[in-house]
Amino acid sequence: MSPADSSPATNVPGRASRPDSLPHLDILGHDVYEHGAPHAAYDEFRSTAPVAWINETAANGHDGHGFWSLTAHRDVVAVHKDWRTFSSEVGGTEIEELEHDAPALAARRTMLETDPPRHTKLRQLVNPAFSRMAVETYAQHATSLMAEVLDDAMAAAHTTGSVDGVRAVARELPIRMITGLLGVPDADAPQLFHWADQIVYNADPDYSPAVSDRTDTDPYRLLPFRSPVSLKVLDYVQRLSAARRGVAGGDVLSVLANALVDGHPLTEREQGTFFLLLLIAGNETTRHALSHGLLALAEHPDVLPRLRAQPELLDSATEEVLRWTCPQLHFRRTATAATEIGGIKIAAGEKVVTWYLAANFDPTVFADPHTFDIERTPNPHVTFGGGGPHLCLGQWMARLEVRTFLAALAQRADRVELAGEPRRVRSNFINGLKLLPLHLVPR
Ligand code: HEM
Repeated sequence: MSPADSSPATNVPGRASRPDSLPHLDILGHDVYEHGAPHAAYDEFRSTAPVAWINETAANGHDGHGFWSLTAHRDVVAVHKDWRTFSSEVGGTEIEELEHDAPALAARRTMLETDPPRHTKLRQLVNPAFSRMAVETYAQHATSLMAEVLDDAMAAAHTTGSVDGVRAVARELPIRMITGLLGVPDADAPQLFHWADQIVYNADPDYSPAVSDRTDTDPYRLLPFRSPVSLKVLDYVQRLSAARRGVAGGDVLSVLANALVDGHPLTEREQGTFFLLLLIAGNETTRHALSHGLLALAEHPDVLPRLRAQPELLDSATEEVLRWTCPQLHFRRTATAATEIGGIKIAAGEKVVTWYLAANFDPTVFADPHTFDIERTPNPHVTFGGGGPHLCLGQWMARLEVRTFLAALAQRADRVELAGEPRRVRSNFINGLKLLPLHLVPR
């Protein structure tokens, strides 16, 4: 956004002015998340204004017209399931108001910002590699990758006294799992994943060359995440796709280069943004299930010994790590017609934002939600979305990675201990850690 444009929503002509439901609380500003997830604020929103109006202002770093904010589990699920009333296509899934900028919306659109029936056809292109059955066949591979990663991390921790759990552990497994599936040569992976970090952490100056709420990013409005770095990935895909055209292959680059949807090939831009979606979704999110998972293990030292003694708890522990860590903080929908949520009237065209971490701590669904309980069953968390057509494509891969990580760590480490202050990503979009100094105490 351009800082000059950041007028309060109530001043936007043609829009009803509406006060903030809970003006004393901020769950939108990127700075908030540098200090940790705002659980106390989420709890207050959920209990007093589960369907709350939030204005976008200079203070919270956003320049749109404001939106409805959902923090209760039932509402998040209801909105995600009703894709006809709550569209991903009309204005995209980011809070930024792309519906007023048709060229940018079109240039950035992926299946995530597409409603059925076209969404279904796009998703079918990549479903086979990510189905539950397909992912089961990757289990052995995941186990050996995780063994390599952890053995290296334990050796480094032994030599130097501590390691950064994000860099040494959490970042590694997702990247190694997804590189081959994407069809990326191993030699290109470090550069590509470095670009992915710069793109998705677009509000964090430690990563982004154009910090989204501090720089004029209008020149990049046609690029995903308004990041100039996206162009590098789009160019990369263009170069590799040319060589894959007409050549059969099951990797994502080959599939996209040869796909026909309704009889038409995907445009170069569509291939590029599709690839970028998988590059980011396939590694940035799972990384933080593992990074926050490590932090949760440091805070709950009984867990690793329990998992070692009772490996039958690995499945429920995996779900609890996913509920607790919830790496994706929100997505957005747009109401296609006048409707109601929880008795609150929503007008056609208004934005609705679903906060997954808040819904995962809803006490009407999860008993003692602020207790990390590896035996919690059932555990209907919305870490992968609230259901409906966009339910996470990579959910089975993410589960495999978290489970493999817990099993392998329990075999090797007696416990993990904090060796310094963790540092969090400046983002209201990804619930991420960027530094996690750890002692990995061997058995
Ligand atoms: C813990 C890890 C993960 C989390 C928290 C996560 C979270 C989510 C969420 C919340 C959505 C729903 C978006 C919406 O409804 O608008 C989603 C969709 C998606 N996820 Fe994941 N994800 C994870 C891992 C993965 C992995 C490993 C991949 C593999 C490539 C992946 C690929 C995708 C894709 C492509 C979509 C869009 C699906 C569609 O539009 O049909 N995700 N993810």
